[in-house]
Amino acid sequence: MTSAGNWTGRVGHVWAAEWRRTDRSFADLARHLDAAIVHVAPNTGQALDIGCGAGATSLTLAEARPKLAITGIDLSDELVAIARQRLAHRRSSDPGAAPHLRFLSGNAVALVQEAGPADLVISRHGLMFFPEPVNALAAIRTGAGEEASLVFSCFGDRARNRFATIADDATGSTAALSRDYAPGPFAFSDADQVAEWLAAAGWNEATAAQVAFDYVAGEGADPVADAVSFLSRIGAVARPLAEATAADRPIMLARLSAMLSDHRIGDRVILPACAWIWRARNVSASSNIAPDRFRPPMR
Ligand SMILES: C[S@@+](CC[C@H](N)C(=O)[O-])C[C@H]1O[C@@H](n2cnc3c(N)ncnc32)[C@H](O)[C@@H]1O
Repeated sequence: MTSAGNWTGRVGHVWAAEWRRTDRSFADLARHLDAAIVHVAPNTGQALDIGCGAGATSLTLAEARPKLAITGIDLSDELVAIARQRLAHRRSSDPGAAPHLRFLSGNAVALVQEAGPADLVISRHGLMFFPEPVNALAAIRTGAGEEASLVFSCFGDRARNRFATIADDATGSTAALSRDYAPGPFAFSDADQVAEWLAAAGWNEATAAQVAFDYVAGEGADPVADAVSFLSRIGAVARPLAEATAADRPIMLARLSAMLSDHRIGDRVILPACAWIWRARNVSASSNIAPDRFRPPMR
């Protein structure tokens, strides 16, 4: 489980320190998600990026739609500070860049009411952490307003995400299996469940496309060492490692390193991963227009 307190505390801190490597791990997925977002993004109006983290998705959208007002919202002050630094850095080399992009820190469910109404709500893996998903999705829909489009990504089945299963294999830990909802990276992995939640929250025309992508865990002269260091700090390996005894920790790290070596391709360690890209709209029955046939590329 990953709670709001984790994001404002230790997990947010690690993600802020690791934003370059998390962006790298999501880069292949981002190709698909960014294409899906740009496909529906208006030229003007307002967009909200929920759980924007270090700002990658907002920054990419701002480049594609410079006249669109974009607000990235995140719980973590530290991640919002990085997003603002990246924006300032971009503007320092191009003063006209992303003129209508801003980042706010706070709970998106509350801030969406202030920041909205929006024509577009986007999120890269930022919706899986709400304690009550239907209430949160409904609040976001109400705040966004009539006719808003929603485009977001979330992880697919845990068994198809090697960065998670390699943690089980290397550390001997097992993922907690529970029928009860718990916020976390795989909380939205069941597409039927998410479809129900979206419908209950009043979003309609929901469609999901499954995307297989390359999760780049390590890179460079020693990509396996880079992957071990990255996965030891982010995600499923981090906790069992932190909780292991001093005697067990080196054994787990050696196992992890050996397993990651099997995924080395040249100067990168690439783990197979899988995500859903969702699209939905907030349209009243009277203005219900059939969605077009957009599908992100499948591999
Ligand atoms: C997996 S990270 C993804 C970050 C970013 N979208 C990216 O792709 O790099 C999830 C993000 O959602 C944020 N988050 C979780 N719950 C939130 C909430 N209720 N309001 C705003 N942000 C939230 C976290 O702080 C975290 O930055």
